[in-house]
Amino acid sequence: MALQLGDAAPDFTAETTDGKINLYEYLADGWGVLFSHPRDFTPVCTTELGAVAKLKDEWDKRNTKVIGLSVDPIEDHERWMDDIEETQGARVNFPMIGDADRTVADLYGMIHPNANDTQTVRSVFVIGPDKNVKLTLTYPASTGRNFDEILRVIDSLQLTAKYSVSTPVNWKDGDDVIIAPAISDEDAKVKFPKGFETKKPYLRITPQPNK
Ligand code: BEZ
Repeated sequence: MALQLGDAAPDFTAETTDGKINLYEYLADGWGVLFSHPRDFTPVCTTELGAVAKLKDEWDKRNTKVIGLSVDPIEDHERWMDDIEETQGARVNFPMIGDADRTVADLYGMIHPNANDTQTVRSVFVIGPDKNVKLTLTYPASTGRNFDEILRVIDSLQLTAKYSVSTPVNWKDGDDVIIAPAISDEDAKVKFPKGFETKKPYLRITPQPNK
């Protein structure tokens, strides 16, 4: 069965462009984004990897390590990095797994045979400090992902891990948030000293608590 939210992210040791990496040791106490692309030397993937590299400061700010993967060998990844730097203006600054034998791709269900039986789809797994899967996302080969959205979800995950809140539609860091329905009004007054607006008993809005 496909990996689901809350499942333990399967651990592995794999060869990458930064040497051999064990996933759990590499992530240590931080967050991780493991993502696959269909193939090296392909156009959409080239734009994606350049964009992920340019977001390095954003991943770092969130204590998040990024790892890429395709079923191409490391030597191809390394040659392709020159093209990515030349065309996208950023050199890949995160490890890319050379998963030619598909070990990791199979572990994470990144090959969807009815879409393509030889290439990985565009999968994303956000992994929390507890090593559980916090987000899964699957895009087709023809559609590049929006990595700003992945950052936005990580912001929400990190906030909601600390406070009894959830984040509404199109929320971004700094916007108002929703108080968890399980919190009584009495407790909410203590937990959210900036106050809250009750639109419905189940819909109470408060300023983001850590801003
Ligand atoms: C691309 O990255 O452009 C791509 C890769 C595989 C299939 C289709 C498009």
